[in-house]
Amino acid sequence: MLDRYPSLTANWSYPTAIRFGPGRIAELGAAVKAAGISKPLFVTDPGLAGLEIVASALDAVKKAGVETAVFSRVDGNPTLKNLDDGISAYRAGGHDGVIAFGGGSAMDVGKLIAFMAGQSRPVFDFEDREDWWTRANSNAIAPIVAVPTTAGTGSEVGRAAVITDPADHAKKIIFHPLMLPKIVIADPALTLDLPANITAWTGMDALSHSLEAWCSPMFHPLGEGIALEGIRLVKEWLPVAVEDGHNLDSRAFMLAASSMGAIAFQKGLGAMHAMSHPCSSLRGTHHGLTNAVVMPYVLANNRGAVGERLAALARYLDLADPGPETIIDWVLDLRRQIGIPHTLADIGVDDDIVEEAAPMAERDPSSAGNPVAMTASDYAALYEKAIGGRL
Ligand SMILES: NC(=O)c1ccc[n+]([C@@H]2O[C@H](COP(=O)([O-])OP(=O)(O)OC[C@H]3O[C@@H](n4cnc5c(N)ncnc54)[C@H](O)[C@@H]3O)[C@@H](O)[C@H]2O)c1
Ligand SMILES: [Fe+2]
Repeated sequence: MLDRYPSLTANWSYPTAIRFGPGRIAELGAAVKAAGISKPLFVTDPGLAGLEIVASALDAVKKAGVETAVFSRVDGNPTLKNLDDGISAYRAGGHDGVIAFGGGSAMDVGKLIAFMAGQSRPVFDFEDREDWWTRANSNAIAPIVAVPTTAGTGSEVGRAAVITDPADHAKKIIFHPLMLPKIVIADPALTLDLPANITAWTGMDALSHSLEAWCSPMFHPLGEGIALEGIRLVKEWLPVAVEDGHNLDSRAFMLAASSMGAIAFQKGLGAMHAMSHPCSSLRGTHHGLTNAVVMPYVLANNRGAVGERLAALARYLDLADPGPETIIDWVLDLRRQIGIPHTLADIGVDDDIVEEAAPMAERDPSSAGNPVAMTASDYAALYEKAIGGRL
């Protein structure tokens, strides 16, 4: 790869300050200070808390003379309880900012703690609907430094976080522009030991972001450009990262592709995310894995409206015989290659969720970006196909 770029280390300032490159976790302490934080709460998850990458990150903070405390009571598919516990820890420790360290789950909880610790309204008042974010007291939002350790959600460059509402079991997207981290340390070396299955699942989340953004009908040429190259990077590098996790180039390009997906999806998401969220909240399935399973069914459902777009994408990806079917076939091949199951039934989602999940999918804000308008009964039919493996 070094024939194309002199090195895979760089500083980017779009859409926020990103320090990208292997080993840059050593700059975490300096980044925290530069973000104006003097006593950060370090938010991570219990699986990561015992790993060497957390120890070395904490060491980097300590070396800069910054005092910190760790909060790790974060579930995959984070809950309101995780957030409430985190806010209590943040207040009790007298913190003034957050280091959000981990995959999407830990980063989202970290971002929400920084957002919510100074608010008086409940978190679900800030769901990503209309202008609900303007209800927040912007002056009370604490700064965030984000460190992704998976390459999938792109939450490090996003202004939203996802959390399950216990009242209706729905995964809800909470949005505020100031939830965008002030500084990101994107160090691909942190992802070298990510297991192959989580590499595959999270990588498919990045793909679903760029793919749904590319297909969304909203006018957003900036997002489209980023989505295209984000998809190409996944095509080139995800199979390599799954096959050989210690290939640092593949980890670097997948980490970039992950951020690109999240930047691109300001253009909109679609039915993949609308269908995936209820499966995760009702059955606890991993977000990226669920997106990966529903992906070809949603593409097939939408192909009448986005045939030209899918053909253009196939040309950009340099696939033989470019056309809408080519993209669906490529997705099916990629899924086989990296071990993604073909049906929702294979990941523990069966017929009995359909009645509850279909109206939840219709209500999910992601659904608005789908190129084909979807009703609850359309979703019910599509769930049945994805459960039974009928493309
Ligand atoms: N904010 C957003 O814009 C956005 C976008 C998409 C998804 N999400 C949310 O993100 C969450 C999913 O995040 P995820 O897919 O990154 O998974 P995750 O954060 O739940 O992590 C999955 C597992 O990987 C482990 N892990 C993480 N990094 C590791 C590393 N470097 N080495 C070894 N193990 C590691 C974790 O301990 C965990 O067990 C979901 O809640 C989803 O809804 C948010
Ligand atoms: Fe996602």
